[in-house]
Parts: sequence; C-alpha cells; structure tokens
Amino acid sequence: MASRLSPTDLRSEGHGSAVAADQDVSELALERELATDEVVVLDYGGQYSQLIARRVRECGVFSELLPHHVGAEEVRRRRPKGLILSGGPASVYAEGAPRLDPELLELGIPVLGICYGMQALVLTLGGKVEAAEVGEFGRSQLTVSEPGRLLAGTPPEQSCWMSHRDTVFEAPPGFAALASSTESPVAAVEDLERGLYGIQFHPEVVHTPYGQQVLTTFLEEICGARRTWSAASIIDEQIERIRAQVGTGRVVCGLSGGVDSSVAALLVHRAIGDQLTCVFVDHGLMRKNEGEQVIAAFRDHFKVPLVAVDAERRFLDRLRGLSEPEAKRKAIGAEFIRVFEEEAVKLKGADFLVQGTLYSDVIESGGGTGAATIKSHHNVGGLPDDLKFDLVEPLRALFKDEVRAVGAELGLPERLVWRQPFPGPGLAIRIVGGEATKERLDTLRDADAIFQDEIRKAGLYRELWQSFCVLPDIRTVGVQGDERTYGYVVALRAVTSDDAMTADWARLPYDLLERIASRMINEIREVNRVVLDITSKPPGTIEWE
Ligand code: XMP
Repeated sequence: MASRLSPTDLRSEGHGSAVAADQDVSELALERELATDEVVVLDYGGQYSQLIARRVRECGVFSELLPHHVGAEEVRRRRPKGLILSGGPASVYAEGAPRLDPELLELGIPVLGICYGMQALVLTLGGKVEAAEVGEFGRSQLTVSEPGRLLAGTPPEQSCWMSHRDTVFEAPPGFAALASSTESPVAAVEDLERGLYGIQFHPEVVHTPYGQQVLTTFLEEICGARRTWSAASIIDEQIERIRAQVGTGRVVCGLSGGVDSSVAALLVHRAIGDQLTCVFVDHGLMRKNEGEQVIAAFRDHFKVPLVAVDAERRFLDRLRGLSEPEAKRKAIGAEFIRVFEEEAVKLKGADFLVQGTLYSDVIESGGGTGAATIKSHHNVGGLPDDLKFDLVEPLRALFKDEVRAVGAELGLPERLVWRQPFPGPGLAIRIVGGEATKERLDTLRDADAIFQDEIRKAGLYRELWQSFCVLPDIRTVGVQGDERTYGYVVALRAVTSDDAMTADWARLPYDLLERIASRMINEIREVNRVVLDITSKPPGTIEWE
C-alpha cells in the first residue's frame, strides 16, 4: 500500500501542486485578524479530536487543534477565548501518559476537559480518578443532578456517548459535581470561580443529542466567543491574505476538477483576478464530460484564465503496454509533470503555485506547530524542486466541509462542490489487470456514466464516499438475442466512508442495481455482464489496483 501513495502519485485533488510546505499553520492563524475569536483544542490523541475542532467551528468560532505538548506560551500567543482538552487513549496512570501542564489552567480563560481531558484536569487538581471494574463504552444514560452553568437548559435525564475505562470518583476541591452516568459517579464537573469545566462524555459525536448544545454553552456563555467564523468571513480573510502574499506577482494553479483545487483556484481568482492562470491537464483518463464541465465552469462561467491541455494522446502513448498498477501510476505521474512543466514555462514569470492543502493534511503531518513537511502522500503531483514557486495555500486552515461551504458561497456549481473523490491517475487504474487502451477507457467511461446517472437519480450520490466502475481485463460468455456474446464484465464499486481509511460496501437497493445492470448491457455493446463488489476496507481497498 505504501508505494501506492508514493510522492509520484497524483493525489485526487489539486494535482499539479507539489512542493513540500513547511510553513507553520499556527503562524497563519496568528496573522489572522483578531476579528475572529478562537478556541484552542489541545489534542491528547483521542479519535474524535479533529471532530471537536470541527464542531467548534460549526458553532461559528474559529478553532485550531494543537498537540497537547505545545505548552502554555504557544496557547497564550493565540489569545484564545477558551481552551478545550480532548479525549485520549491513555490511562492517566499509565507510564508516559500525557500530563496536563498546570500553567494551562492559569491563562485566565475558561478550560473544558473532555473524557481524558477531564480526568487529567481532575487528577491535576486533587480529585480522585481510578480504574473502574468495568469500562463504559458506547451509549450511556446521563443523570444531571445540578445543571450548573455548563449543562444549563439540558434535561435531567439524557443519553450520551462514553468511551473510557478510568473513571472520576470524586471532584477536586472547589468543584461541583453536576452529573453521573451508568458507570461514572462523577460525569460532569465545574468550578465557576476558576472557570474550569469537565465532562466525561463526548459532546462532539452525534450520539450525544445535547452535545452541541453543551459546546455552544461553553463557547458562547462561558468563553464569550463571538460567532463570526463563516464561509463568508473565510473568503474575506483569505482574499486579503492572498493579496498581501502575492502582490503583483503571477500565479499558476493546477486544476484537477476536484473540489479542493477548484475552490482554491476560485478564491485566488477572487483575490487577484487575471494575475492567476489555471492549467487543466486533460489526460484522457477523466470520466465522461468531466473535462468539458471544468472548462465550462472556469473559463466560460467564472472567466478564469485557463490553459486546457488536451494531452490524451500523450498519456495513451505512455500507457501502451503497461498493465501493472504501479507502472501505470508512475507513467501517468511522470507525464503529468512533464505537461505541467511545459505549460508553466510558457507562462513566463509565474512566481507562485496554488496548492489545495487542507487543515487535516496539516494536522496529520505534525499538528500545526512547526509541522516540518506535508506527508509525502499529500505531497501531490511530485513536481520537481527546480520549479521555483512559492506556495499559495488558501485552504490550509480549513476542513473539507468548510472548503465545500466556501465553494458553494463562491458560486461553484453543485456538481463540483460535492464531487466524490477521484484518483489522480483516473480511469487508468480502474482497468484492472490489463492495458488502459482508448477502447477500454471509452467502455469504462460509458459504464461509469450510467452508474453515476442512476446513483444521482436515486438521490444517493452524496451519501456515498465513492461510486465507480471497474473494468477487469477479462471477457465472459453471454447470450443476447439468439447470439452468443463474448464481452467485458463491469464491476460496480460503491462505498460509504468518512475518510477513506476504512470503508463499508454500500447496500444499494436491488431494483437500482437491476436498472444499472440492464442499462449497461443494453446500451454498451462491449459489456455483457455486471457484478457487484461487496468487500469492505479492510480487507479490500477502495480501488481495485
Ligand atoms: P484505496 O484504494 O487505497 O483508496 O482504499 C483510498 C482513497 O485514495 C484514492 N486513491 C488514489 N488517489 N492517486 C490518487 O490521487 C492514486 O494513485 C490513488 N489510489 C487510490 C481512492 O480513490 C480512495 O479515495
């Protein structure tokens, strides 16, 4: 697997951008006009830490996720309105378990500990945390004895989501215990005087129905944070920042048709107009009409200067005789670089390259504090270092859902805003076990178009992480009319997923599957059989090769 994500890969979004970015996102946040209030989330390694930051932003308050060890000074520099300590997998008593720096409690801002964060808070301040006989995982019942400030307005009995083994048995001196749960004698605490709060349950997950309300109370009532973070405010802020960075320089952007590169390009165009030129390399491995749609949206509708390179022939030549997946990926990656370079050289004097790096990439590569480089697999496109560009990364502080919201606000067509991920090497890696010839690509493209059409008509497109067809290099026997046929098999692959790390095969309705299969066989001469892939990830991968 690792080799599939080598630097020569074309990642699904924004291919054409390349150079490792070691710019520190925290610096970007600091440059931010303090017109936007911020609440910092310290990450103790919990599986939901990113989700906490996203939920805070959904409340309209900017939020950054920083590693737990950054230290009080780093947090203070951001002048946040509040601090949230996330959950984490360790026991507070385990050797090497992350400690809570007491100085963090002296910043003069409210602090909310969640799960491990609450336990660390309680332990540090002299309460009692112990390993319980039984853990508490999943849905649990919360009984609120005294709502206090944090749980105000929520019912005395409510369900919540728990995930812990250590348990708080006694609140620290000065704290009031607000609630208990099935297995937790103390499941919520607060010390109004010092502005310290703790909850054992996870407010960020949807299984805690009052979770968002509790977070909102913390942010608004307790921290006094203003809800000014929105798609519109992001756009205004980014436009200013891009202008300041680029000045009168010339900027180039590789457009892939994916949502990240599309939104990044539009933002930059809003900021600097025709100083931007987009390059769209059509490698002939896109889905049906996709190239035309990108050109229609950007060149015709948004009037973005766009160089569209029809490079199908070149790519097909490069792919001739290649049937092994890595060989295909390498060939496509190398050819892509060559085409992009040729175009970039023609745009004399371009100083900047737009890259659609997202905040989740930044977090994964070091948490936003002095993060050294983007992980190699996010180092999209793999453009060589001697292409001397400075990077413009307008999405560096944004989560994917915020990128979509910004795209919608900028008027990007719904089709592009909600496009499912599509691999950089395109349909070539969906012709499995054989060469990606023009004839096979066309067959696959036709099948894929029918699949997408039916999935959209059934209203399922957004629910699926990806839905696509695979064309194995085999033929099977069939009978159509009175004739024996010998045609291609199309495999349908549809998965649900949150992040592509794991995925479940989608349970598509039988009548939909039937319609798809019969349309494919009736409308595409070369196809005489349709099968369904019912493998989840793991053990399968999403793509077949
Ligand atoms: P797998 O098949 O590894 O895919 O489960 C996970 C996600 O990555 C996409 N993918 C790629 N994207 N270049 C890309 O840009 C590639 O070579 C590549 N291989 C897989 C895949 O579509 C899924 O979203």
